[in-house]
Amino acid sequence: MTTLANYLNAHASNPALNDVITTVTDVGKTISQLLRKGALADILGEAGNQNVQGEEQKKLDVLANDLLLEALAKNSHCAGVASEELDDATPANADGSLLVLFDPLDGSSNIDINMAVGTIFSILPYQRQGQVSENSDFLQAGKQQLAAGYLLYGTSTVLALTITDNVVMFSLDPDSNEYVLIKEDVQIAADTSEYAINASNYRYWQAPMQQYIDELIAGKTGVRGRDFNTRWVAAMVGDVHRILCRGGLFTYPFDTKDANKAGKLRLMYEANPMSLLIERAGGAATDAVQRILDIEPSDIHQRVPVVLGSKNEVDYVKDLHLKHATK
Ligand code: F6P
Ligand code: MN
Repeated sequence: MTTLANYLNAHASNPALNDVITTVTDVGKTISQLLRKGALADILGEAGNQNVQGEEQKKLDVLANDLLLEALAKNSHCAGVASEELDDATPANADGSLLVLFDPLDGSSNIDINMAVGTIFSILPYQRQGQVSENSDFLQAGKQQLAAGYLLYGTSTVLALTITDNVVMFSLDPDSNEYVLIKEDVQIAADTSEYAINASNYRYWQAPMQQYIDELIAGKTGVRGRDFNTRWVAAMVGDVHRILCRGGLFTYPFDTKDANKAGKLRLMYEANPMSLLIERAGGAATDAVQRILDIEPSDIHQRVPVVLGSKNEVDYVKDLHLKHATK
């Protein structure tokens, strides 16, 4: 049996990285316990509401954010933290060598219906050790990430992690409260017949994405010559986990629903860490055309269209976009 601690010790080339990963995954154990308690933990409902004792209720995504922030601020290797929940990055220990970014509770609309949610994290090098970190220090392309991972709080709690050139998975053993290695080298098949998209946005998509989904729906009777199947968890962490387990394509494409947003998902807290995991597992991750990990960010909260998963299917979407662009 290999625990997360054993695994990190065996890959000890960057002890600071291992220490920060231990901090994040330890907080994950606490979040997992809070979720297991559900309504009994007195944590459901909107932030700002009062509970029966008349105390302020903290919505679980705010609580998850605060727990991560508090724990990472105490970690001497962490120079700063950026969270989907906070407008600005929070400086931590100036002498630290790492920056940590996270989506504390992805898919949080799933909490109140007892469905899967998760914590996504990304770790970047800190280039200005000794000085107080700022938002601009976080503006590094995804390919600079030293590690990335997620915790999926589903029927069991699973950690997917990449600190080497591959992806590993651990399951949180409820008896020992330890993460135990369950998959050593996650690989995504290049071909798939399963896809994930919120099709209610069809009318807001660009022509190539509409054509792509039309082709999949036509199935056997269309140009693809085979039937496809839809799955949508409504939490990216759940859809990406399914893809790491059995392949598939996930997309939250560019849409014109809100003129201020290029897509729904956040580059730094969602697209980058998931893209690193997907690529290291042999899949591909693009904004429909460009590799996500090559995007130079201009804002810590910027949004990006996402098409990721089984390589041949991601390439197919890219080809459709390129064909439309040259028309
Ligand atoms: O974090 C944004 C997110 O909750 C993702 O986890 C998920 O894939 C998506 O939004 C769901 O969006 P929609 O509510 O449009 O289906
Ligand atoms: Mn999210």
